[in-house]
Formats: sequence, C-alpha cells, structure tokens
Amino acid sequence: MNILLLGSGGREHALAWKIASSTLTDRLICAPGNAGIAREAECVALDIADHAAVIACCKRHAIDLVVVGPEAPLVAGIVDDLVAEGIKAFGPSRLAARLEGSKGFTKDLCRANGIPTAAYERFTSTEPAKAYVRKQGMPIVIKADGLAAGKGVIIPEELAEAEAAIDMMFGGGLGQAGAEVVIEEFLVGEEASFFALCDGETAIPLASAQDHKRVGDGDTGPNTGGMGAYSPAPVMTPEMTARTMDEIVVPTMRAMKAMGSPYKGVLFAGLMITKEGPKLIEYNVRFGDPETQVLTLRLMSDIVPALIASCDGQLRSFDLRWYPDAALTVVMAAKGYPGDYQRGSVIEGLEAAGGIEGVEIFHAGTKLDGGKIVANGGRVLGVSARGKTVSQAQARAYAAVDRIEWPEGFCRRDIGWQAVKREKN
Ligand code: AMP
Ligand code: GLY
Repeated sequence: MNILLLGSGGREHALAWKIASSTLTDRLICAPGNAGIAREAECVALDIADHAAVIACCKRHAIDLVVVGPEAPLVAGIVDDLVAEGIKAFGPSRLAARLEGSKGFTKDLCRANGIPTAAYERFTSTEPAKAYVRKQGMPIVIKADGLAAGKGVIIPEELAEAEAAIDMMFGGGLGQAGAEVVIEEFLVGEEASFFALCDGETAIPLASAQDHKRVGDGDTGPNTGGMGAYSPAPVMTPEMTARTMDEIVVPTMRAMKAMGSPYKGVLFAGLMITKEGPKLIEYNVRFGDPETQVLTLRLMSDIVPALIASCDGQLRSFDLRWYPDAALTVVMAAKGYPGDYQRGSVIEGLEAAGGIEGVEIFHAGTKLDGGKIVANGGRVLGVSARGKTVSQAQARAYAAVDRIEWPEGFCRRDIGWQAVKREKN
C-alpha cells in the first residue's frame, strides 16, 4: 500500500516508524515531516491545511490510505474531503471531530448521556460568566470552547485572575476559539490519558499513558504541549479501564452514532481519576503527543491493519497485542519553551544515544541543515525507551539524553516519577 501521513511532530515520527515497519507498507510519504521522519518516509512539502493540495498529492502518488496526525485538519473536515474523492482516510469526520473542536459540544453530550465529567455551564458573554464564577468561587476552570493550541484552559488562583481570563477570551485574545467559554468545576485526582480505537460502532481500548504537562520538575511552571510520558499508567488498573470504557467511551460512541456522526479514528480521553472513579476532562480526536511515542513502542501488532479496520468498520473481531514492557519518553525542548526560543542550534550525539539498548529517538521540531540536525521548533526530540519496568525505561531514556550534545536544549529530569515512586514501594 501507499500511505500518506500528515503532520510533522514527535507523534508523527512515532507513527511513521511503526507504519514503515508494516509488511503492508510499500511506500510511506509524509507531509511535511521532519528530519527524523525523513529516515522512515519520503517527506514532501505540502500545506496540510490546503485540502485540495492534499487530494492532489494523493492522486499523484496513488495513495491508498491517509493517516491524519494533528487535530486542526480533522476539525476542518479533511477526512470528509478525502472520502468524497474515494480516498481512505484514518480519523473522524468534521462532525465527529467536534468532540475536540468544541468543548461545549462535548460537555452537552456528557450531560445528555450521563457521562461523568466536571459540572459546568456554557457562556457567550462576559457578565453572566463573571457572575457564575463569583457564585461558584475558587477553585474553578475556565476554557475557551474552540481549538486554542493548548492555550485555551486557565486555572486561576484567584477571582481577579478568573475575571481577567474571561475578559481575555471574550475580548478576542484567543480569536474565534474564545467566542464561547465553558466554566467548570475543578476536579481533584490523578490524570491519565486513555486511548481507544473506534470504527463508528465498536471501540477497542488501546493503552493508557501519563503525560507531564508542566514545563518544570515537580510539575511546576507553565503548561506545555507535554514534556514527557510513560505507559502504562498504573492508575489505569483493569477495573478503571473497564469503567472508562463502560461509563465514558462506549456511551460516547453510542451517542455520536445516534446523532448521525459516528466516531471513527482514535479517541483520546483525558481523564481525571477521582475518588468516585474516572471523569472526562476532555476529548481529543487524534493520537496524543508525546503519548504516541510510548504507545507505538509498546504495540507489538502491525498498526496498519488496525488503522484500516477503523476506516472500514471492521474492529468488532479485531485483536491487538502489546508488549508487557513499559515505555517512557523524555521530551527535549529548546531553552525558553513554552515561551520564546531560538531555532537553528546544532544537535549532536544522536547516534550514540540511539545505540543504548531499548532506546528510540523520535524527532519533533528538527530539520536537516548542511548535513547536520538542527532544532526547528519548541519541542524538538522525544528520547524514548522500553524497559521491564518504568524505572528501567526511565534509566535508559536519561542515559540516552545524557549522550545528546545540545547545550541550547533542556528537559525535565523527573519524567515517570509517579510510576517510579509506586515501583519503589
Ligand atoms: P486541556 O487543555 O483541556 O487538556 O487542559 C489542560 C490541563 O488543565 C489538563 O491536563 C488538566 O491538568 C487541567 N484541567 C482541565 N480541566 C480541569 C478540571 N476540570 N479540573 C482540574 N484540572 C483540569
Ligand atoms: N499530550 C497531550 C496532547 O496530545 O494533547
């Protein structure tokens, strides 16, 4: 098969690495890709927001399957446009992608179907939103309804900050994404990322992971796209996984189908495991980044038949095998991230780092420049490793990090701390 993968991050490098290893893959093209993906796939320069250009690329290269990495093209309906041209595409339709594209849509779906989530209200203007915040008091969570590239969630420390967040959103600080605002209850518990593969009818659980959103050790500092992840998440016991499927994922699938927009693709549930059980924080309609880097390392089965079964509605009797091993990814970012950072610094030592047993290095913001790998983004590398335990995977990943020569980069030194603490007890 000829496969086109859309995206350029660490998630897409991990997907490219796994897709390239499939016996079904004759040719893998990635648009636009990065320096690491270029080792697994032919990278082509393409604006993936331009659906007509993507369709033309598919026709030119006789593409049999398109795999969409990021959310923006899904929410913009790229799968609908490809399918209308007779091209198979992995991911949800535009209407199904509302699960990520509109937080208000998802909250209403939860309320109508008894899916456990934080109590909330939706607002379209400043004064009622502020009145609600004053009535509820702190702590509280303020969210822009639409896609805001990770900047749409504010957890204020005090009332004045909450009111400023409401003014910022309705004042256009996040563009159209903030035209509507969801204000919700602050949930207490341990977070987990849970993934299910869906075909419109059936959902099969993939695996769980834990992300580290804050930039600093000890979960301090501003939120980022994710500074590291590991899988499995020990908080996702078999019982918690079964409850998440029964109480959250399956009712969502049923509701989406009843609404005439059946959900296909990977459904990523951001969960808070509370004293009462799993509650949905949010849905994403795509694989996680950096969670995909650890999931693909643990996936024993060929991924391509699973992606095709999702597109074709054939997941009912599908079985995926996983390595029992743990996997862990440490994200290396350019100094200054998630604020301003420089591009263009040279990264060395990648070969020595990749030579450590169990280690795989996934690239995110990198490019080739005069034969050298240079930083070309905020999150730059996902230094990943498998191990018998999270502790072993962590030791291998940091041994690899220490072989990478990149003075302009940094990483957290405590990725996996929650699992490592449990393993020590
Ligand atoms: P999101 O961008 O929706 O993933 O939210 C970013 C982060 O904000 C989440 O990973 C949580 O850590 C936190 N968060 C979002 N909603 C809530 C909530 N209702 N209660 C507590 N924390 C939340
Ligand atoms: N790691 C969180 C995300 O992909 O949104």
